[in-house]
This record gives sequence, structure tokens and C-alpha cells, in this order.
Amino acid sequence: MRFRCPGCDHRSPKWMGFCPRCGRDGALEEVSGGGGRHRRPHAAPVTLAAVGAEPVRRRPVGIGEIDRVLGGGLVPGATVLLGGEPGVGKSTLLLQVAGRMAGAGGRTLLASAEESPQQVGLRAGRLGVDGDHVLVVGDRDVDAVISAAEEVRPDLLVVDSIQTVSAAEAGGAPGGVGQVRESAARLVHHAKEHGVPVVLVGHVTKTGGLAGPKVLEHAVDVVLSLEGDPERGLRMLRCLKNRFGATHQVGLFEMGDAGLREVEDPSRLLVARNGGRVPGSVVFPAVDGRRPLLVEVQALVAETTTPQPRRSVKGLEAARIHQILAVLERHAGRSFAQRDVYVSVVGGLRLRDPGADLPVAIALVSSLLDIPLGPVAAWGEVGLTGEVRSVVHGERRAAEAERLGVEVIVGPAGEGGDRIRAALARAGVGV
Ligand code: TYD
Ligand code: MG
Repeated sequence: MRFRCPGCDHRSPKWMGFCPRCGRDGALEEVSGGGGRHRRPHAAPVTLAAVGAEPVRRRPVGIGEIDRVLGGGLVPGATVLLGGEPGVGKSTLLLQVAGRMAGAGGRTLLASAEESPQQVGLRAGRLGVDGDHVLVVGDRDVDAVISAAEEVRPDLLVVDSIQTVSAAEAGGAPGGVGQVRESAARLVHHAKEHGVPVVLVGHVTKTGGLAGPKVLEHAVDVVLSLEGDPERGLRMLRCLKNRFGATHQVGLFEMGDAGLREVEDPSRLLVARNGGRVPGSVVFPAVDGRRPLLVEVQALVAETTTPQPRRSVKGLEAARIHQILAVLERHAGRSFAQRDVYVSVVGGLRLRDPGADLPVAIALVSSLLDIPLGPVAAWGEVGLTGEVRSVVHGERRAAEAERLGVEVIVGPAGEGGDRIRAALARAGVGV
């Protein structure tokens, strides 16, 4: 009812010049809010200035690289999704977190739906985790896990993995979208209700889709991704979403016999000893998160007689490499038509920094011509018209290269950018 009579409060959906009920000679008034809506009790709106003053409480887990990625630590009541390929080290990492928390007097409840409590115990022993302060339940029913958590009131609840627990009454097979969603919803609710941080482990398939976990990204507060080549030692912990802090933070670990170890000076590790000194090798000062990271980009170009030459890419987006090859052909006169092309990032890391274009282009031409470059660090985004555009954090990239004694720096020149031909020439592989 959008209109009312100020005399008798008669309500009418349409405007009239008099009241049809009491006959009052005067126009009906529009009811504020309109549309026939009912008033509801609501919370008093507060100014942003007032709410902004309240700091987020965080509990550091005690492992520097993880705390940095989390933006200071775990937030009580927040749910974290930790994704990664099987075997990358998610369970190991979380067991180590539980161990550190225990060292600081915090109790962790580990719901291990994937491995038996015996297996977890065995691994904990190998990792030197204090078994007295870490509780394990082997239940696969999410409500049983929550009941256990309500009983022991842990400082951290870990569910490993969200695909192997199931929610009674929810339809579908365990690991299916419906089950994963419902199980997570119940755990998120538990986290909020009890103010306990909850970490959900989610397996990601090779093709990149977080089978299941992808559907959870909006439901959780923080999304972390553990990446790396399971066959090699390096692991990268990335923050993809953080309701309580900055994303794009990256933590680096090395997998060894005693589990994951923090890498203190990653740049030293990611550049091979002859980095930049052999054909096809260029040092790239990447910036992942806030930290500059020197990595070595390698390219191998080999002649082939096959009609469909190979394009093998590791650690970078294949589509970018195809684009760079096309730009080199069109704007630098370098053809890769009868050649196999391999491009990879040393250490098995996956880079998403657009600045990798130029070092890749230089490495490709360096290998094609079989010309070693000397220690050359380069960065810049290569556009379709052959221009080299600057990317963020140029100064930090330069500083990191200098810190490790990489002398020649080929970055985009000045504000207006540069051309790919000129950049190749400056790197010593020009026409
Ligand atoms: P895991 O944590 O089980 O991976 P996820 O939970 O992501 O599936 O880690 C599995 C691999 O890590 C396994 O192949 C063995 C290796 N690993 C080590 O190299 N050192 C160690 O100390 C531990 C515990 C595991
Ligand atoms: Mg596991």
C-alpha cells in the first residue's frame, strides 16, 4: 500500500484526491518506503570511521613465511582454504603448523579423513611434532568432526581434506560439489560461532581446477595455494584471497627430510650457478607479492624436421610464450618455425608476473643464436605491436638484481616503453 489517509490511516495502492473511507477531503499521502514493504527491525548503521578502528586479532602460527602470507597470522573465526595438487605437501605443512602452535601452548585438532591417525602419528614423529598437543580424529562425517571440536575447543581446527569428509542429509557422493559445499558451510559456521580458525585442505587437479574447492572460494575468508613441482624441492605458498589483508604474498619453502623448511634467501636458490652465463639463460627479477625474487628463465631452441614443432612451457603460461614467439617473428625478424621450443623457470616455480615476457624473449633469441649473455637481468611486458612496456616495481627489481651481483639490466627504458628490437640489441642478441 503506497498511499495513506492522514485522517483515518486508510491505505490505498493508488493515489486519490480524497479518502474513500472517511470521506476526508484531501489528497492521500505517499507512505515512505513505498512498494508495500514492511518495516523490519534492523541494526543501527554505523559510520565506517567507527568500525574501522577495531583491529583484526591475529594469532601467528609461528612459521614466518606462513604468517607473512596470511598477513600476520590466523584470524579467529576465519576459514582458510589451502589448495594444492596431491603430494605437494599440504598435510605436511599443516602438521608443522600444528607443531609450532603446540610449542606456543596452542592446541590443534586435526580431522584426518584421508590418512589414518596412525599414519599422521608416524609422520608427526618424523617431523618432530610434539604429539601431546595435537589431537587427531579419523572421522569422515563432518558433524562428528564438529562435535569433536566442540568438545576439545581447539585453537585451530584442520580438516584434511574437504573432499573426503561428508555431510549427512546432503545429497551426492563424497567429494562432489554438493557435499563439499555443505560440509564447508557447516565448518564455516562452526568457525564463526566458536571463534576458532579453521583450515580446509582442498586437492587441486593437474588441470588447475580446484575440483570442489573452486566452488568454496567465495565461502571462505582466505584462499591459499601451495604450488611447486612435487618432484622437486621448492614450494611456493600463495595467498589468492584474503578478507583480512593483502593478497599476492608469497612464501617459499624447500621440502626436505624434515618436512618443509623456510627459504631465507630465495634469490640465491632460484638462479643456477651459471645463471645468465650460458645461451638461453636470463635472470628475471620477479616481484611476487611484495618481495622481489630473482629467478632464472631458461629457453632451449632446437632444430626439428617435424611438421608440428614442440612448444613446451613450464612455470609460465603457454599462451604468453606463443605470443612472444609471434612478436619475435613479426617485429624482430626471428623465426622459430622449424624449431622445437622449450621454456622453463628454474626451481619449478609458477610465475604470473607479466614482466617475464622480455626475459623469455631474450632467452629465446639467445638460445636461437647460441649466444651467451653474461649475467643479464631483464623485465618488461611485451605487447603485440613489439613494444616493451614497463611493469610495476622497477626499482625493487633493479635493487634485487644488484644485490646478487647481476650487473647488466635490460628493463623498459623510460616512461614511454621500448621496442623489442632495441631491448634485444641492448642484451647483446640484436640483429
Ligand atoms: P603431503 O603433505 O602428504 O602432500 P599433500 O597433503 O599435499 O598430498 O606430502 C607428500 C610428499 O612430501 C610425499 O611425497 C613425501 C614428501 N615428504 C618429504 O619429502 N619430506 C617429509 O618430511 C615429509 C613429511 C613428506
Ligand atoms: Mg595430504
